[in-house]
Amino acid sequence: MSIEAKQLLALLQVDKTISGSVLAARFGVTRAAIWKQIESLRSHGAPIGVQTGKGYALQSRVEQLDARLIAAGLPAELALDAADIDVCWQIDSTSSELARRVSAECASPRVCFAEIQTGGRGRRGRSWYSPLGGGLAFSILWKFERSMSTLAGLSLVVGIGVVRALRDFGYVDAGLKWPNDVQIRRRKLAGILVELGGDALGPCHAIAGIGINVRLGEPAQEFIDQAWIDLASARRESVPERNALAGRLLARVLEAVEQFRNTTFSSFKKEFAQYDVLRGHSVRVSTARGFREGVAVGVDDSGALRVSTTNGELVVDSGEVSIRIRSEVQP
Ligand code: BTN
Repeated sequence: MSIEAKQLLALLQVDKTISGSVLAARFGVTRAAIWKQIESLRSHGAPIGVQTGKGYALQSRVEQLDARLIAAGLPAELALDAADIDVCWQIDSTSSELARRVSAECASPRVCFAEIQTGGRGRRGRSWYSPLGGGLAFSILWKFERSMSTLAGLSLVVGIGVVRALRDFGYVDAGLKWPNDVQIRRRKLAGILVELGGDALGPCHAIAGIGINVRLGEPAQEFIDQAWIDLASARRESVPERNALAGRLLARVLEAVEQFRNTTFSSFKKEFAQYDVLRGHSVRVSTARGFREGVAVGVDDSGALRVSTTNGELVVDSGEVSIRIRSEVQP
């Protein structure tokens, strides 16, 4: 999609229809070319309503991402500015993009947002759906001088950063479902995918990809195969502006990872327990060796899930685990 699509989207307004001919004249193209571009935007999830014979209007406001507005939300001590934040219009995956850029010269942290991901990746080989203007999709790259084994718990720390940011905006019921789904009322609001690279013994790098449902709209039913929620439906007050939300998420995640860099996951255990939506629930853990059932009793010092079973405690540290809440909290 050309840069025109971004400009075209910026011209559309909520509750004010603009005709194809006006847009065509504005861009010096045919009405058919405008229609094609609108259909392309709609295919990426942009909330554009089409009124035959009248034209196009937005069904909900779309605030396009802007690195300067995002950076404005960052505290000075993080020493990160707009130049360290890339905002791409369309890309396969923000995490793949950062992975391609890792080099000795590459700054750390480095941040990449995208309005459209054509190959958004989720955990366990799933794809990630993020409609144009209705979600936030971004990744952060950090370099570490230490071994990968010392990064145990990093993905939970990123989740803690995300929950802190959401709570700052008043989403006080945002919680974490181990290892790193962000949930509200047992529905998935955000997902986190942490990928490590480099030398296992160090130096190494971590790329955390974060996807948040802001206002998904109707088509999401088609693309998401699990219970989901978005910020728009999580509460009645207005949804935060995307740039402000992006800035706060970035600030909170960077701050949490800086804290982690100087300590270990054990210093986050208490806070994780406050957000832990599994704790005290009967859970079903599926591993390569089959299913196990028990009661989730929190996480250990490395962030591994502890499950109390009839045969003793099970400690699950692999990301290849699926857990189902099967009952109410155990006394
Ligand atoms: C999950 O399955 O819960 C993890 C979802 C992670 C999605 C984000 S969106 C930004 C980044 N780029 C990707 O391709 N994936 C992550």
